Amino acid sequence: MNNEVVLITGASKGLGLAVAHLLARRGHPLVINARGEELRDAEQELAKLTDVLAVRADVSEEAEEIAGRALSRFGRVDVLINNASELGPSPMPSLEEHPWQSLLRIYRVNVVAPLHLIQLLLPQMKDRRGGLIINITSDAGLNAYKTWGGYGSSKAALEHASRVLAAELEGSGVRVLVVDPGDMNTEMHRLAEPGVDLSHLPMAEDVAPSIVDLLDTKEPFARVEAQRLERIHA
Ligand SMILES: NC(=O)c1ccc[n+]([C@@H]2O[C@H](COP(=O)([O-])OP(=O)(O)OC[C@H]3O[C@@H](n4cnc5c(N)ncnc54)[C@H](OP(=O)(O)O)[C@@H]3O)[C@@H](O)[C@H]2O)c1
Repeated sequence: MNNEVVLITGASKGLGLAVAHLLARRGHPLVINARGEELRDAEQELAKLTDVLAVRADVSEEAEEIAGRALSRFGRVDVLINNASELGPSPMPSLEEHPWQSLLRIYRVNVVAPLHLIQLLLPQMKDRRGGLIINITSDAGLNAYKTWGGYGSSKAALEHASRVLAAELEGSGVRVLVVDPGDMNTEMHRLAEPGVDLSHLPMAEDVAPSIVDLLDTKEPFARVEAQRLERIHA
């Protein structure tokens, strides 16, 4: 059994839920988070496998609540997986036409909220001289896809912040990884490409094992492309 406590945001569906299921099967105590009703179903399923706390909250507004409840329930968070993400309007507009309020929201959810959670959870990780932070990114953070500019630039910012953080944490025992899960057939991808057949893409359950495996590695800062690890379970 694994006793590291894992907090994963955006864990009511898609990749977050698939990762949470695998972690629960390994016996990790879990803190799961999302905004909607589905979080309750996820909690009920996961509670059959492990000790789970569900915190229904918006990461961009309630990071203190999420971190605070996690620490008071388990006394520690060993692994933080910043997975919840905001795409913006569907279909996605060009940067010229992207409403600035939506840009602000994308940055708050995808960049500021992960950093806020990191700030809240780092002190106890550093005290124990151990911890792992996994920030979920996208190839849209590297490549200039038309209309993906709001979301993509937020992922680029998250990646760079992760790099700086890793440099600042060198020698602390806390590792930072940036993980690009690659294209998956999920609700977010369906909103990103409305009307496009995504049935050929891997499901989140196919990609999740590569991410869970990272808990057992010792590598320092890295940008990991989950589907390049050839661990996809067909
Ligand atoms: N799907 C792909 O092809 C793909 C490719 C590259 C990278 N990614 C990345 O992979 C990660 C997971 O994506 P996915 O495709 O699995 O997405 P998804 O199926 O749409 O699931 C997103 C999860 O995040 C939650 N969420 C969204 N906004 C939130 C907020 N403000 N606060 C708390 N929870 C929030 C959602 O629940 P509620 O809506 O109920 O809050 C849901 O549980 C994201 O970081 C995404 O950028 C995905």
